[in-house]
Amino acid sequence: MYIIFLGAPGAGKGTQAAGVAEEFGLVSIATGDLFRQAVERGDDLGKKVREFMAKGALVPNEITVQMVLNKLAAPESGKGAILDGFPRNLGQAEALDEAFKKKKQKIDSVVYIKVEEKELIRRLSGRWVCRSCQSPYSIQGALTEEQKKCARCGGELYQRPDDNLETIKNRLKVYFSETAPLISYYRNSGRLIEVDGEGAVGEITQRIIQALRKKTCKNK
Ligand code: AP5
Repeated sequence: MYIIFLGAPGAGKGTQAAGVAEEFGLVSIATGDLFRQAVERGDDLGKKVREFMAKGALVPNEITVQMVLNKLAAPESGKGAILDGFPRNLGQAEALDEAFKKKKQKIDSVVYIKVEEKELIRRLSGRWVCRSCQSPYSIQGALTEEQKKCARCGGELYQRPDDNLETIKNRLKVYFSETAPLISYYRNSGRLIEVDGEGAVGEITQRIIQALRKKTCKNK
């Protein structure tokens, strides 16, 4: 099973991908995480993508598409994958469809996680992430040094450099102009599942799992 998670920055794609991947035994491929790891390593890829990410702009397709196709060709993706944050524009979506067509495979479903803009800004401004295990936390306001500790592994919590208000606004602008048109692209090809992304995390996970099961039964 190959699934795309589509949604604005802060919609909960990463949070939900973890639970859904576990449920269906899939790997999760998150382009944002792969780019951040490259920046952290300071390798060639990291040097190429750093400026784009800092501005909240999309990394060029010629870098992004090949990186994802390499990940999909790896043995661990053989049983299926969730693509979190890819594709993000029409060029990427068409390149992905073309690559799957060549392999005689298909993207089964595209889960569009829908959240109001005000809530997206609230979530991103209050996001803290563990440096060690990458667990996300949602905490509004300043944290004391003692509170900057991951409840799961004790690692240090930090705020992503692109989670400042100015960059958040630019990421949302880029999302609405370049990524949101993919909603119609996938709806028109009968692959879109629309899920309300507001409410408790566990409830949303169940909404997604139920919707995917229903769609899989329909397609049989
Ligand atoms: P990326 O890392 O993909 O960032 P994004 O799309 O902006 O998505 P986020 O990670 O911000 O949000 P999310 O939807 O995963 O939400 P999360 O679960 O974390 O990309 C970063 C950059 O990399 C891009 O700007 C671009 O430069 C580059 N890039 C990446 N992919 C690319 C591509 N395909 N092409 C070109 N460039 C690319 O949740 C957010 C917060 O909300 C967390 O604090 C979480 O705890 C909280 N939360 C989650 N669910 C709930 C809930 N139900 N209720 C309350 N809080 C919640």
